[in-house]
Amino acid sequence: MKPNDPTPLILRSDFPADFRWGCSTSSYQIEGAVLEDGRGESIWDRFCSQPGRIRDASSGAVACDHYHHWPEDLDLARSLGVNAYRFSIAWPRILPLGRGAVNEKGLDFYSRLVDGMLERGLQPWATLYHWDLPQVLQEQGGWANRATVDAFLEYTEVVTRRLGDRVKHWITHNEPFCTAFLGNHEGNHAPGLTDHKTALLVCHHLLLSHGRAVPLIHRQVADAKVGITLSLHPISPASDSEEDAAAALRHDGLRNRWFLDPLHGRGYPADILALLGTDAPQLLASDLHDIATTTDFLGVNYYFPERVENAPGHGPIATRVVETAGVERTAFGWEVDPEGMVTLLTRIQRDYAPACVYLTENGSTFDDVVEPDGSINDEQRRSYLERHLAATARAIAAGVPVKGYFAWSLLDNFEWAEGYVRRFGLAYVDFQTQQRTLKASGHWYANFLQPGDAEK
Ligand code: FCB
Repeated sequence: MKPNDPTPLILRSDFPADFRWGCSTSSYQIEGAVLEDGRGESIWDRFCSQPGRIRDASSGAVACDHYHHWPEDLDLARSLGVNAYRFSIAWPRILPLGRGAVNEKGLDFYSRLVDGMLERGLQPWATLYHWDLPQVLQEQGGWANRATVDAFLEYTEVVTRRLGDRVKHWITHNEPFCTAFLGNHEGNHAPGLTDHKTALLVCHHLLLSHGRAVPLIHRQVADAKVGITLSLHPISPASDSEEDAAAALRHDGLRNRWFLDPLHGRGYPADILALLGTDAPQLLASDLHDIATTTDFLGVNYYFPERVENAPGHGPIATRVVETAGVERTAFGWEVDPEGMVTLLTRIQRDYAPACVYLTENGSTFDDVVEPDGSINDEQRRSYLERHLAATARAIAAGVPVKGYFAWSLLDNFEWAEGYVRRFGLAYVDFQTQQRTLKASGHWYANFLQPGDAEK
């Protein structure tokens, strides 16, 4: 830190000594090598090949070429001083046809990667599903087909059998909201469908597959810690009107409670079920019991709050997210609200009291500029990170058992429908040369994690 820098808002020593510090990535966003070593096609390969789907008409075919650059990438993670690394496993590398024949080369890749983490003192945190479903399963209905739950269990069994001796932290799903609703209702994520009823069924099967996978992972990996990662938002009404207050409640119902309630044994929220009518998923008798399986932690991805207005005729629950004027935003337009994270976490604790919480993603995108000397002075991202770490400490002080923080993301990467337009990395990636350069935010995080060891 330079001598004239302002007093830091937060120090590592403000956190418990056993707090987990990490960074987060996902397979399709960084790996590339989509045709290598027997990997099968994923729904994202297919989606990207359809004209108009991705903002810059790109795909994850090469991405950060992490499949070949992984030792360097793990070195980079280590240089940040983190002690945990969250990654995801590409199902089509393991079971190219979704189920059945196992591709050993795919397993070998993740086995090497995990060994690489352990050699560097990085605790591996594996996400089983970060959106890259084998395309062959989509052709059989994807997650709308109940049989995909069984396929997921088969995949989970294969992966945990091979990696469970070394990977003790498992996340079943990343953001089932996005898988279900962005992919099957809004249609801007793979597989690109636009049907609300399908999205609700997909959502139910995702939660069911989570609920069934947790005991399976525990059986396979005796000392495993298993959880699910949700994308959650603090939601408030756009005005003082009663209509907007009711709309905020409904929006919270579908956006947050729809996941948190069944995971915590309360079934789907009755107010939303009533609004959905025949669109609501058909359940089998044991489903809600299975979904409510006990987990070891709740993963929370926090990015931004949502302000909601009543919007008759708009969408399935007549709500609309409005953009408040004059607030700080990232290049994505996402509102920057560190205090919103405290509001969200204290609410989760009050209403659901999970055993413990890990912030499995939090980060920001800004239009990075590479200076003539090659440096990237991303002050806004640095400040975002610092303020959200300070907010994390406030949530802990308020009694929320937050046990770790994973910054999104280690690297700039393929940001789904936005392609390579949006950069979230603590390290800048030149996608022509595959050169990685730590940004000022990354230097700051390293400095924060290793006080006195500045400017690494
Ligand atoms: C989350 C996703 C992650 C990344 C960030 C910016 O919703 O889990 O893959 O795209 O947003």
